[in-house]
Order: sequence, then structure tokens, then C-alpha cells
Amino acid sequence: MSDILQHTEDGVLTLTLNRVDKKNALTAAMYADLARGLTQGASDPQVRVALIQGHETVFSAGNDLADFLNQPPQGTDSPVFHFLHGISTFPKPLLAAVSGPAVGVGSTMLLHCDLVVAGDNAAFSMPFVNLGLCPEAASSLLVPQLMGYHRAAEALLLGEPFFAEAALETGWVNRVVPPTEANVVAQQWARKLAAKPLTALLETKRLLKSGQAEAVAQRMGQEGEMFRRMLHEPAAKEAFAAFFEKRKPDFSKANAAV
Ligand code: COA
Repeated sequence: MSDILQHTEDGVLTLTLNRVDKKNALTAAMYADLARGLTQGASDPQVRVALIQGHETVFSAGNDLADFLNQPPQGTDSPVFHFLHGISTFPKPLLAAVSGPAVGVGSTMLLHCDLVVAGDNAAFSMPFVNLGLCPEAASSLLVPQLMGYHRAAEALLLGEPFFAEAALETGWVNRVVPPTEANVVAQQWARKLAAKPLTALLETKRLLKSGQAEAVAQRMGQEGEMFRRMLHEPAAKEAFAAFFEKRKPDFSKANAAV
């Protein structure tokens, strides 16, 4: 079975992350499938709303770290870039249902969703610094806007998780429900939206986003360039190796070389 399930019903395109044994860590192939699904959904008249969902125990552990080691994204033609471009420019309402860990891009993709339903077990984290990396998905622009500078610095510099209640309070998510209900509630909202007049939805979303669409694209490009460079540096290599060796990373050599 594919690691991304795609299903359209009642005007709702549902994309399900389906690699639970690896905590829905996203591979290049999964980004490519998601990007393709969004591109199709954007132009398919049968699709009026899209929903990205995970499992009640895990949304996503973020980018697959083995992929970062073995086939890091090379440029703006990479599947991850196509995916980020796809979610940030998706013209129709885009929802997410998030339970359990939402790490890295598992959290930052939510910044591009219009409505987010969270399970009360949701744990959001952006441990880019801990991995020797920098923010992506325009999160260095959008997180401070959402949470205020100091909370953004806490989330992005310390990289520690914050949980469903804090996410609700800071506006990352719209609703917190039991984990078994997150996908169900998001699907209900998606169908409710799909029954509304499409042109009004499209125009409203376009107006909501138009204030900074250009700034988002520009920041995503700047972050992407830096991120791809940092993937090859000693700190990131050490962090990835430490994860798979199930030990704490030691950044002393990387820091000595700076
Ligand atoms: N990339 C590749 N594999 C991953 C992964 C990732 N991002 N996250 C988890 N996995 C794999 C583990 O290696 C493990 O595989 P194995 O069963 O073959 O050993 C399996 O998924 C289960 O992960 P595990 O760490 O045992 O689950 P957990 O419930 O203890 O912890 C997380 C879940 C998400 C908190 C933890 O896996 C984690 O921190 N993952 C890395 C997150 C990360 O740094 N992402 C990159 C962000 S840019």
C-alpha cells in the first residue's frame, strides 16, 4: 500500500500520511505524491476542499532523516520544494487533522493550512537547530507572526515541543478534540466547506493570503537555499547519525570548526 493515500468524496480530497511504522516520516516519494495530489486537486473541478491527515497516534515525524543523509534535496526542483510550493499556493480551502507528534515540516506545513483540528495528544516541534539546520516552509516569517517573537524564538531556537492547548491558545490550531475524533471532525468541516459556494471560498482565501503571498514565497526560497547548504555541514551529519545510533549528538567538533 502507498505511503500516501488519496481519496476524493463529496468534493473533499483527502491525503492520508500512511507510513505509521516510521512515524509518517516524509520521504522524497511521499512529498512527490503529496505535491501531485495537491496539483491535481487544485485543477480538478470535483475537488473543492483538501484535507491532509495522519494517524490518531502520529501526524508526522517530519522529513525522513535517512533521506536527508542519503538523498538530500538538491534544489527548487526537488519533491519537498514542490510540496511546500503546493501547500503554500493551494487555492482551495486546505485543512489538516493532527494527532500525536508533528515534527519539523509536520508542524510547519500547518502554517499553510486554513483550518487545523488537533487531537489532545498533539505535540508540535520544530527542532531545526537541534539538527544543525534552519527553519523551512517560511516558518521563520510565519511563526513570529503567529506566536509573537519570544515564543517563536523559544520554539525555533530551543526546539522543544509545545502541546495542543498551547497550540490552541497561540492560534496554530482551531479546535482540540480527542485523538480518535480529529480526522472525523476535520472531515466534517471539510464537507461543510465543500457545500459552500466555491467562488466565494476561492476569493476569500485569495484575499486572506494576498497580503503576504510574495513575502512567503521569497522567505521560503531564502530558507531553502540555506537549509540545503546546512544539510551537508558537520553539525547536521552528526545530528542525523546520532538519531539512528540512538545517542545524544555531540556538536563539539562541529562547533570547534566554526
Ligand atoms: N526519519 C526517519 N525515520 C524516522 C523518523 C524520521 N524523521 N522518525 C522516526 N523514524 C523511525 C525510527 O527510526 C524508528 O524506526 P525503527 O523502528 O526502524 O527503529 C521508527 O520510526 C519509530 O520511531 P521511534 O523514535 O522509535 O518512535 P518514538 O515514538 O519513540 O518517537 C518521534 C517518535 C517522532 C518523537 C521520534 O521518532 C523523533 O524524534 N523522530 C525524529 C524527528 C525529527 O527530527 N524529524 C526531522 C525534523 S526536520
